[in-house]
Amino acid sequence: GGVEELAKQVDGLSLDAVTAKYPASHPEINPLDLYRAHISNVISSISGIAPEIVYPAVGWTQSLDKGDFSVATPALRVKGTKPDVLAQELAEKFPDNDPLVYKPSVTNYFLSFFIKGEPAMKSIIPMIRGLGEEFGRNKFNGLRDPKDPSKGKKRMIVEFSSPNIAKPFHAGHLRSTIIGGFLSNLYEGAGWEVIRMNYLGDWGKQYGLLALAFERYGDEEALQKDPIDHLFRLYVRINSEKEDQNKAIEEQKKEGKDVSELEANSLDEQARRYFKKMTDRDEAALALWKRFRDISIVRYQATYARLNIKYDRYSGESQVPEEAMDKTSKLMAEKGVSKEDNGAVIVHFPSIVPGKEGKRLDTAVVRKRDGTALYLTRDISELLGRYEEYKFDKMIYVVASAQELHLRQLFKIIELVGHKDIADRCQHISFGLVLGMSTRKGTVKFLDDILRDAADFMHETMKKNEDKYAQVENPQATADILGISSVMVQDMRGKRINNYTFNMEAMTSFEGDTGPYLQYAHTRICSIKRKAGLTEEDLASADLSLLTEEHALNVLRYLSQWPDVLQNTLKTLEPTTVLTYLFRLTHVVSSSYDHLRIVGSEKELMKARLALYDAARIVLSNGMRLLGLTPVER
Ligand code: ARG
Repeated sequence: GGVEELAKQVDGLSLDAVTAKYPASHPEINPLDLYRAHISNVISSISGIAPEIVYPAVGWTQSLDKGDFSVATPALRVKGTKPDVLAQELAEKFPDNDPLVYKPSVTNYFLSFFIKGEPAMKSIIPMIRGLGEEFGRNKFNGLRDPKDPSKGKKRMIVEFSSPNIAKPFHAGHLRSTIIGGFLSNLYEGAGWEVIRMNYLGDWGKQYGLLALAFERYGDEEALQKDPIDHLFRLYVRINSEKEDQNKAIEEQKKEGKDVSELEANSLDEQARRYFKKMTDRDEAALALWKRFRDISIVRYQATYARLNIKYDRYSGESQVPEEAMDKTSKLMAEKGVSKEDNGAVIVHFPSIVPGKEGKRLDTAVVRKRDGTALYLTRDISELLGRYEEYKFDKMIYVVASAQELHLRQLFKIIELVGHKDIADRCQHISFGLVLGMSTRKGTVKFLDDILRDAADFMHETMKKNEDKYAQVENPQATADILGISSVMVQDMRGKRINNYTFNMEAMTSFEGDTGPYLQYAHTRICSIKRKAGLTEEDLASADLSLLTEEHALNVLRYLSQWPDVLQNTLKTLEPTTVLTYLFRLTHVVSSSYDHLRIVGSEKELMKARLALYDAARIVLSNGMRLLGLTPVER
C-alpha cells in the first residue's frame, strides 16, 4: 500500500529493510516510524553520524506547533562541535526538496521537522482505513523475541476490581475496575497475553456470620433474583444484631454479671464456629458458602460485561489452600523472615531490612494468636501459587493507594524468602480516592447501583433537549451507555494518583472533557458519513491530494500520532495519556468542520474529506474502546 511505496520511493527500502536497519521501527503499523527512519537516513548521510545513533534521537514533540519531530543534537553524541552549532549545520545541509519533510527549523540545539501534506495524506489515510480496528495496536511489544514470533508472547496477570462479597462496592473497587480494564486492553493491544483476574474478598469469619444470617432470614427467591442485594441486606441486618448483642453483653459485664454463657452463644462466637467448620472443610458449611460465591459471580459477570470486561479467572481469598499457607509459613520462618511474638507470628521489617526502607515497612502480622492466617499471608501464598501456575512475566495489582504498605510488604516478603526474580515482576498500580460517591437511592451495594444512577441522570439530561431526544431510537439503552461513559471518563481524566470528586452534574454534561462529549464527537462523524451516502469504494479511491488545507493536515498529523500515543501510554500506564490525546483530536476535528465541508462540496472533494473524517472516526473509536467505552453511532 501507500507506506510501502513511499518507503521505496524516498529511501529505496522495503518496509522489512527499514525494520532490519532500525529494529525498533515498524512502519507497516506506525507511519511515523517511516518518517523517523527517513529523517535518520538523511541526517546520517549529510553528517556521517551512524544511523542507529540518530534514530532514537528523533523524538516527538509536546505540541504540533513545535513540529512533528524534534532532534536534540546533544543526543547525537558528536564531539568537538557545540550542540547549537551542530543544529545550525545540520539544518543548512538538510536538502530543500526532501520528499517527506520541510527543511528543519532551529531553536537553540533543537531541530524541528514538519511533515509535508501530500505524501502523508496519500500514505497514512489508506493505512488507517486499511488497518481499521488494528490501527494503533503493536504486537511487537509483547513478543518474547521481537525477531522471532514463534517464541510466543509475554504473559501478564492483571488483578483488578476484587470486591468483597456481601459488602459494599466502594469507590476503590470502582477505580480498580475501570483502570484495570483499561490496562488489560492496553497490554493486549501491545501484543501481550493478558490474564484478567478478579481476587474476591470471599473468606473470613464474616462469611460464617453471613451463613448464619441466611439460615435465619434467607429468602431463596430474593437470592436468585438479586444475590448481591440480598446478601448485602442479610449482612447488614446480622451485623447490626451482632453489635446490639455485643453492647448488651458489655452492659451486663459492667453490672458485674456473669456473661460467659451469653458470650458462648453470641453471634460472634457462632460465626467463629461456623467459619471454623468452613476451614475444616465441612461439606454443608462449604456448600452454602460456595452457592453464595457462585451466584454472586454470575451477577458480577453481567455487570462487568456492561463495562466490556470479561475475567479469565475469579480467584479469591477462599481459593488459597491452607497447605500452601503452611508451606509459606515454614519458608518464612526458615529464612528468618518471620518470628514468634506473643503467640502470633510477625514480620518485623526494621530488624531484617536495613535503613529507612525497613522502618517504613514497619511490622506485619502473618498469623494471629488463634492460628488464623491473615489477608497478607493469603496474598503471599497466592502470589507464589500464581507464579507456579502461570509463570507470568509481569503481574499488576490495581489496588487503592490505601493498600500501598500492604503491597510493599507483600513484595518485600516474596523477595526475602528468596524470590527476588518473582517480586521484580510484580507492580502495584495505585490510585487516589473518589470523594463524595453516594447514589441517590442510598448505599452502594454493587457497581450496578452506580451505573444505574448515572444512566438515570443521563436520561434526564437527554430529555432536556426535546428535539434531539425524539430522534434517539432507544433512549434508555443510549442513556445507559452514556451514563457508563460519564462515570468512566470522569475517573480516567486525571492522573491515577489524584483524588477526584464524584460529580454527576459535571460528568454527564455534553460540554467540556466528558464521556458524553466524546460520544457526541463520535456520533457526529458517524452522522456525517451516513448522510454523505458514499460507498467504501468511493472512499478508497478518493484523490487524497485534494486535501490541501491546513485544517486537513492538522487532523492528519494528530491521527498519525495514535500508535506513538499508545507507546507512550505503555510507559505512563495512565488512562489520561489516551484521554488527553482523544480530546485534543476531537477538538481539532470539530474545528475543521467549517473549513472542510462535505455538504455542498464537489464529489471528488467530498470523497477525499470523508476519507479523512473516516480515519478520524476509526482512531476515536479505537481509543474509546481501549478505554473500555462503547462508542455509540447515533
Ligand atoms: N478485596 C480487597 C479489598 O476490597 C482488595 C484486594 C486487593 N488485592 C490483593 N491481592 N490484595 O480491599
